[in-house]
Amino acid sequence: MCGIVAATAQRDVAPLLIAGLKALEYRGYDSAGLAVLEDGEVHRVRAKGKVREMESLYLAAPFPGGTGIAHTRWATHGVPNEVNAHPHMIGRVTIVHNGIIENYAKLRTDLQVKGYVFTSETDTEVMAALIDLHLTQGMKLREAVLATVRELEGAYAIAVIDRDEPGHVVGARRGAPLLVGVGIGENFLGSDAQALVQVTNKIIYLEEGDIVEISRENVQVYTLDGKAVERGIQESELSADAVERGEYRHYMQKEIFEQPHAVANTLEARINAHGVLPNVFGIDGDELLAKVKGVHIVACGTSYHAGLVAKYWIEDYARLPVNVEVASEYRYRETVVPEGTLFVAISQSGETADTLAAMRESRRRGYLGTLAICNVPESSVVREADLKLMTRAGPEIGVASTKAFTTQLAALALLTLHLAKQHGLDEARYRDLTEQLLRLPRILDEALKLEPQVIELAERFVQRHHALFLGRGVEYPVAMEGALKLKEISYIHAEAYAAGELKHGPLALVDEDMPVIAVAPNGPLLDKLKSNLQEVRARGGELIVFADAKAHFDGNPARGAVLRIDAGGDFIAPAVFTVPLQLLAYHVAVLRGTDVDQPRNLAKSVTVE
Ligand code: G6P
Repeated sequence: MCGIVAATAQRDVAPLLIAGLKALEYRGYDSAGLAVLEDGEVHRVRAKGKVREMESLYLAAPFPGGTGIAHTRWATHGVPNEVNAHPHMIGRVTIVHNGIIENYAKLRTDLQVKGYVFTSETDTEVMAALIDLHLTQGMKLREAVLATVRELEGAYAIAVIDRDEPGHVVGARRGAPLLVGVGIGENFLGSDAQALVQVTNKIIYLEEGDIVEISRENVQVYTLDGKAVERGIQESELSADAVERGEYRHYMQKEIFEQPHAVANTLEARINAHGVLPNVFGIDGDELLAKVKGVHIVACGTSYHAGLVAKYWIEDYARLPVNVEVASEYRYRETVVPEGTLFVAISQSGETADTLAAMRESRRRGYLGTLAICNVPESSVVREADLKLMTRAGPEIGVASTKAFTTQLAALALLTLHLAKQHGLDEARYRDLTEQLLRLPRILDEALKLEPQVIELAERFVQRHHALFLGRGVEYPVAMEGALKLKEISYIHAEAYAAGELKHGPLALVDEDMPVIAVAPNGPLLDKLKSNLQEVRARGGELIVFADAKAHFDGNPARGAVLRIDAGGDFIAPAVFTVPLQLLAYHVAVLRGTDVDQPRNLAKSVTVE
């Protein structure tokens, strides 16, 4: 989703802004631009496509200047092209914006009456005109931004410069992330700490509604009612190395291979051979969790699939009722919240607009409390939750989520064990589940060794247009995640079904052109799954089975393949089976030559509704 970088410095800022935008590329975007103020004049360069295309234009005609703003745009209002790309300029104002202004049409009409002419289709240009109008009425930039944001409905993070106020950038946020990077004699704004890691690790996290004015020597934050406030400086632990690709061809591949380590980090100091340790959910956590009688999980995308796995686990082992819902649905309907229900938000970024809004909405609905399972400690979701459990996956750059998912499963497994213990799970089974979870990093490492076999399989998919994924029980959400991975990065249409549903519709699609991928763990549902797969075989479908090594699956089918995996036990099998499905999607995408880390039309952090 859109990325913002801004700087005020003694040195020329354009190269810093470009480096910052490159660090934000992972968020997904379709055009880029920057503007620099120098001697009362604003120089701007914008281009459709990648940051490097905009950079070449800049390098062909570079401009100096110590105050600037820059942006990667993910189109909402208006197609991706140069005219709609940010920064937008009207009168004295130059602006970049992330978010959606809902009342922009009315504001636009009012401003047209006042003589403003708009050249783009964006809501952002309307904000620029409104700020300019306030400037012409005699306000300073900060006052003009404050007056403007008070008139806006919707979500925004902005960075603005006034041609007549050199050396100053004003930022504001509501419903979209923005933070301040504090340097020595230079200061910055960015959408996340990653954008600034190359210039500073001292970060001020802005709160909802905050407005900030930065100059080379000063940073001052104001609340929406105009009062100056202190917001503490925190040291970001991000290092520039953590966001390097290293020996891997893509970030996604690197992140798939980081999973054993990331999961081990998530489990570290939280569980030992006797089970989950006290205070894993914070000081008040154990007390609050002791009262839990049910769980509602809300999330989007891959995080939603992690929630679905947790439903099987918590209902099975803790015998507590669990509802899982996508955040965009949850927030706009009335849910029934029985007494003692815990609200769990799962989000890699902690900034997903729907998940955040759902969590805020949940406050009104009478939950026992909220728990955030998240990968970004300073994110909005974490800051607003009562309890938090960080996933410690490290920065995830590839748009298609991989290590974030398996670390979410590790965190949810800890929650499951904690609740299961309280709700009387048999001691021996608790010990077994604990042992399984402790060996998960090692088993994931083994699963990664299947890569050469998966590469061979991937070749079968290069010319395909569709694929079906099947799973049963807790492996059904794993099949959903496998289908999502394939469609996200290879653009092959893929759907997942609970294998028992096959004959209620999707079987009609099965013929020699429809590969069917099945996840076959060793368990009570294995025989049922085998019967489902016979139905596919009988229709000439190509069957690819990822089978637990213990599952006694017959040799290779006439058309298709069986790939055997040590799933490490029934509890951790969903995390383990995810690995070959991720690798399959990755290698199919590589063979098809897609932009694996930044697939078309998708964004890493979806900060608009
Ligand atoms: C986007 C990303 C997905 C992610 C989803 C939820 O769609 O492309 O990879 O699963 O958002 O994001 P979150 O940060 O809330 O987990």
